[in-house]
Amino acid sequence: MKLTIIGSGYVGLTTGACFAEVGHEVMCVDNDEAKVATLLHGEIPIYEPGLEEIVRNNVAAGRLQFTTDTPEGVAHGDVVFIAVPTPPNPDGSVDLKFIEKVAREIAPAIKEYKVVVDKSTVPVKTGEKVAETIKRYAPEAEFDVVSNPEFLREGSAVEDLMKPDRIVFGSNSDRASALMKKIYEPFVAPLLVTDINSAELIKHAANSFLALKISYINAVSAICEASDADVELVAEGIGMDKRIGRDFLNAGLGYGGSCFPKDIAAFITISDQLGVPFDLLKEVEKINRQQLSRFIERIRQKLWVLEEKKIAVWGLSFKPDTDDVRCSVAIELVEKLVAEGAEITAYDPKAMDRVKDLEVGSKITLANSPEAAAKGAEAVIVATEWPEFANVDFNAVRELMLSPILFDGRNLLDPGTMETHGFDYEGIGRGSLEE
Ligand SMILES: NC(=O)c1ccc[n+]([C@@H]2O[C@H](COP(=O)([O-])OP(=O)(O)OC[C@H]3O[C@@H](n4cnc5c(N)ncnc54)[C@H](O)[C@@H]3O)[C@@H](O)[C@H]2O)c1
Repeated sequence: MKLTIIGSGYVGLTTGACFAEVGHEVMCVDNDEAKVATLLHGEIPIYEPGLEEIVRNNVAAGRLQFTTDTPEGVAHGDVVFIAVPTPPNPDGSVDLKFIEKVAREIAPAIKEYKVVVDKSTVPVKTGEKVAETIKRYAPEAEFDVVSNPEFLREGSAVEDLMKPDRIVFGSNSDRASALMKKIYEPFVAPLLVTDINSAELIKHAANSFLALKISYINAVSAICEASDADVELVAEGIGMDKRIGRDFLNAGLGYGGSCFPKDIAAFITISDQLGVPFDLLKEVEKINRQQLSRFIERIRQKLWVLEEKKIAVWGLSFKPDTDDVRCSVAIELVEKLVAEGAEITAYDPKAMDRVKDLEVGSKITLANSPEAAAKGAEAVIVATEWPEFANVDFNAVRELMLSPILFDGRNLLDPGTMETHGFDYEGIGRGSLEE
């Protein structure tokens, strides 16, 4: 099928590439000229495992094209996906200006029947607004709007798209539903077809539930610290119950990234607006904020004054296997330590170029390896659980450090092993500081 994706970021580019991979003819549109120029040069503007190869192969096969021209994109596709940003407003509501702009831009370019699919994460009832907008700018246009929330995880986006747990779309039109089913036929996954409002809600409800699991285990981790229990064992014990599951029960510095913080805030806001406040989610946010504060307090307890302390931070991306630093808790941690006068040397396998563009980037030193970051440091902090951090030579790292203190903000390392290597180890929810 001929498909168009408006917005070629983490979601749009990966979705477009995977659609091409299963045989569709895809045109990806982006209004960022530099991004499109990079793509036309055969380069990938983001790091996502496996993406580069798929893009290269499908461009070579003529199934994947890039343009900055929205009307050209709309003319190409029978189905037009919208995958533009939906950032938060300061009050937690969603800034829908990018979606509204795309609706305005595509409207006059609709010359024959099109299905307009919203893949961006939006509050319930946005589909109605998109349809209204297109009608206003092109009263004669023949089209249907569909909601097709995306569940991919950065870091495993290609795998998630090629082998999804489920595909959900919401449609109020049989004609649009038939085309959507055809698009997804090559993907072997359970398909749930709903009305538009339910599909929009599924995405916010799913992300909020995952955030709830993270905050739940983080709240348990605080109790573990106060009672000398081990949250890792507690999580294992809870997770063995099939009704609960072990996933997303990892105690740590809390959730961050470009999706969870904004999606939970958006779900809270839309629930308030609908007159059914979702107070449970306000608590989820509160626990998430407290988790970082509690961690920094533990660092203060150990190092006393942070001013002039040389601290190494391992990991800056919001999670492993991505270069994305949007709303990364690791970055927030670094900002807070810098504000207290700590001298930070950081290392991340993929995200360092992105950090250079941030304000905090000019206030820290970037090292080219975990060992180089640790040189002369009074403490190392694991802020993102990149697997390579578990495989460094810890005896060598200890030798390089001024004092062998390790704060593991992601419970990546084994406390016993770290002790054997001579480290003073502090994890999350793994006993009290006084021990
Ligand atoms: N990143 C994720 O893991 C993820 C997962 C699921 C859902 N989502 C949702 O998908 C949406 C997109 O997220 P993302 O991470 O891909 O964002 P992104 O910022 O990486 O990409 C968005 C792209 O849209 C382009 N764009 C903006 N306005 C445009 C316009 N008028 N015409 C053409 N291009 C335009 C931007 O230049 C950018 O390249 C958001 O709603 C997000 O919540 C993201």
